[in-house]
Amino acid sequence: MRIEEVKSTTRTQRVAAHSHVKGLGLAEDGTAMEVAAGLVGQEKAREALGVAVELIKTKKMAGRALMLAGAPGTGKTALALALAQELGPKVPFCPMVGSEVFSSEVKKTEVLMENFRRSIGLRIKETKEVYEGEVTELTPEEAENPLGGYGKTVAHVIIGLKTTKGTKQLKLDPSIYEALQKEKVTPGDVIYIEANSGAVKRVGRSDAFATEFDLEAEEYVPLPKGDVHKRKEVVQDVTLHDLDLANAKPQGGQDLVSMMGQMMKSKKTEITEKLRSEINKVVNKYIDQGIAELVPGVLFIDEVHMLDIECFTFLNRALESTLAPIVIFATNRGMCTVRGTEVIAPHGVPVDLLDRLMIIRTMPYALQEIVQILAIRAQTEGIQVEEEAYAYLGEIGVRSTLRYAVQLLTPAKVIVGTNGREVVTKEDVEEIDALFYDAKASAKLLAEQKAGYLQ
Ligand SMILES: Nc1ncnc2c1ncn2[C@@H]1O[C@H](COP(=O)(O)OP(=O)(O)OP(=O)(O)O)[C@@H](O)[C@H]1O
Ligand SMILES: [Mg+2]
Repeated sequence: MRIEEVKSTTRTQRVAAHSHVKGLGLAEDGTAMEVAAGLVGQEKAREALGVAVELIKTKKMAGRALMLAGAPGTGKTALALALAQELGPKVPFCPMVGSEVFSSEVKKTEVLMENFRRSIGLRIKETKEVYEGEVTELTPEEAENPLGGYGKTVAHVIIGLKTTKGTKQLKLDPSIYEALQKEKVTPGDVIYIEANSGAVKRVGRSDAFATEFDLEAEEYVPLPKGDVHKRKEVVQDVTLHDLDLANAKPQGGQDLVSMMGQMMKSKKTEITEKLRSEINKVVNKYIDQGIAELVPGVLFIDEVHMLDIECFTFLNRALESTLAPIVIFATNRGMCTVRGTEVIAPHGVPVDLLDRLMIIRTMPYALQEIVQILAIRAQTEGIQVEEEAYAYLGEIGVRSTLRYAVQLLTPAKVIVGTNGREVVTKEDVEEIDALFYDAKASAKLLAEQKAGYLQ
């Protein structure tokens, strides 16, 4: 089995609106601090999620499901991302939106299956033959392009690796040069190169280069001990989906079209049910042998009411399987029909699935809390706001939603900028508020001017 981490699948979108959230902001004893880690209020939900984090870390929660339920803009998405931060980078967290399953190209359950497997991690320990050390030199040697044509290609790369024992110079294949560039390796970094596969892993920056004032989050590591060429126990964190991808065969044969496809690096590979069960078998064997450890992560399905009955049936079954992650749902719906049926159910989720969920409620914010959230948001976006303007924005937040109030900050900054000022005033907010409609105001207008629209 090929073991390979597929970096391109780590997904980071949908975070911009929540960039101020750094964690759940809980004290040692698990109680929520009023304002901490970018979060304000919502104490009960935060404490509940804190308990979930503990259960996840002690691996007592696989196959369970939680649901965040509450009105729009009460912080459900923000709280789920806070939980992800608490789990740290080694526990997989896979966010998706319910509507993602409705793609014309892939089956709904296939999308869910893929995301399920993205959320299950595997920590694999292997002893590998590696070259490890601090990079002292990195020189690509060029040659004429052997295929003809213009330009030069890299024929091989000379790399110097230093350990406490000494320095060794290696002459390596050009493919390794690409791998080095991908990992953004520069002289002074500590790296290791796997002898068999040529995979390059950047461990960190050599601590000889550590300066007192360092703004970038760098990990400094000591100079490796021993020989450059050695056997080393490496720990790799992969997800089941990584394994699926690494072992899937490219579609089609060796004809020109599929060759082109490969050259264009489109990862159009087919992951079949059979491949997955093969991988599961190997994974289970690794776990039994103690080579690998299962790290159940979190699958976060936002706007779960967008799923239909087919998906819910799949989820019911998938949660029962031995390789299941923790699933967290979020929804802002009350009683509504379950998609694909005529049944009306709480949150648009069938009752048999609801029955297995632990539900966490998010409550509407008080004016004071809205103002505090606005202040945190303004700070992360680098916007200066006058006291009065905060108060007014807070009122808007109470009248419409928190999200609408937060969203007014950015255009307000634009107005201030064009007028050559620095601080957002109450007048600016009024001006912006007059330009845009929030959902409620827009709906009201629609109702009033019904005749003017096409039916
Ligand atoms: N307790 C909080 N502390 C700090 N920021 C918050 C808090 N709650 C919400 N926010 C911020 O307010 C905005 C709206 O919240 P969010 O998107 O999480 O709401 P939601 O409950 O997911 O709404 P919807 O049901 O519409 O999806 C986001 O920018 C979010 O980061
Ligand atoms: Mg949301």
